[in-house]
Amino acid sequence: MNYRNLGRSGLRVSELSFGSWITFGNQINSDTSKELMKTAYDAGINFFDNAELYAEGRSEEVMGKILKDFGWRRDSYILSSKAFFGIKGLKDSKPTQKGNNRKHLTEACHQALERLQVEYLDLFFCHRPDKLTPIEETVRTMNTLIEQGKIFYWGTSEWSAQEIMEAHMVAREHHLIGPTMEQPQYNMMWRDKMENEFLQIFKTVGMGTTVWSPLASGLLTGKYNDGIPDDARLNRGELSWLKDRSLVEENIEKVRKLTALAKELGLSMPLLALAWCLKNENVSTVILGASKTLQLEENLKASEAKEKLTDEVMVKIESILDNQPELPPF
Ligand SMILES: NC(=O)c1ccc[n+]([C@@H]2O[C@H](COP(=O)([O-])OP(=O)(O)OC[C@H]3O[C@@H](n4cnc5c(N)ncnc54)[C@H](OP(=O)(O)O)[C@@H]3O)[C@@H](O)[C@H]2O)c1
Repeated sequence: MNYRNLGRSGLRVSELSFGSWITFGNQINSDTSKELMKTAYDAGINFFDNAELYAEGRSEEVMGKILKDFGWRRDSYILSSKAFFGIKGLKDSKPTQKGNNRKHLTEACHQALERLQVEYLDLFFCHRPDKLTPIEETVRTMNTLIEQGKIFYWGTSEWSAQEIMEAHMVAREHHLIGPTMEQPQYNMMWRDKMENEFLQIFKTVGMGTTVWSPLASGLLTGKYNDGIPDDARLNRGELSWLKDRSLVEENIEKVRKLTALAKELGLSMPLLALAWCLKNENVSTVILGASKTLQLEENLKASEAKEKLTDEVMVKIESILDNQPELPPF
């Protein structure tokens, strides 16, 4: 396993990490969850990602129990939670149970610590920007949680570059700790934030990135090339909105071409897609998701697979994807 610094911080995070969205406390049972965590940890993965929203808090409970059962040293792994939506989601949470305001972030942090059965979170994210809370209130709250030793680093997820920079501006002005990392979606189909919007931030204040859905929820495994398998994620009713957006002919046709290229290289399609994310040096860690241990075992070979993505291969991939964000000409 290779390790990268989380942005400008000294925290060394494994370049592949593991998350529990859709799976833990929902799609898969506790035994499978346990086997997945063990496979990840034994392979050198040191970052486990979670959120209050995942399976209405059950994902954190399941992960907390597994961490306790294994008894791994707390200083040997990095654990996160994310708050904003409330455990029941924006629609069903009460007004005081969501947002990036002081009350919700503080209570959400305490509740995550309880569900995960740990004394502190290494990373705590604002899961989305909050248009109703002044960014200064959020920065002050996160700074307090850090000073109280309840979290070590704070970050954002799917915030705009402008919102992230406002947080830095406030932090600088008041000598508070600004955000260390952002959690954006990043995969072959979804590139703009990582390859365009955030470029100045990487150069100026610096930012770690824990990127999500590297396989676009499975689209980039090629498993949807010839129809929708019964037991696959995009067949789940709760994700019909994502299926409608992802499984369009243009995307599938690209994945069919990429699958053929992967075969030529002696790689599987998931490995080609994951290794492609790792090629981006602004990525600190690629968060893997898996519903089966075999999937995770395969995905763990992504670091080796990266060696096969030469400049020439990257050009071929680009010509198939044909979606590189356009930057202003020099
Ligand atoms: N911050 C945010 O807003 C946000 C949003 C989403 C996710 N995340 C984080 O990012 C993590 C990863 O995201 P993700 O789960 O969407 O990742 P992903 O890699 O895009 O999708 C994972 C899913 O793809 C399928 N899959 C994975 N490897 C496969 C393989 N080798 N062969 C066949 N199928 C395979 C599995 O689903 P099936 O077997 O069910 O088809 C698996 O659960 C999450 O767990 C969460 O921690 C964060």
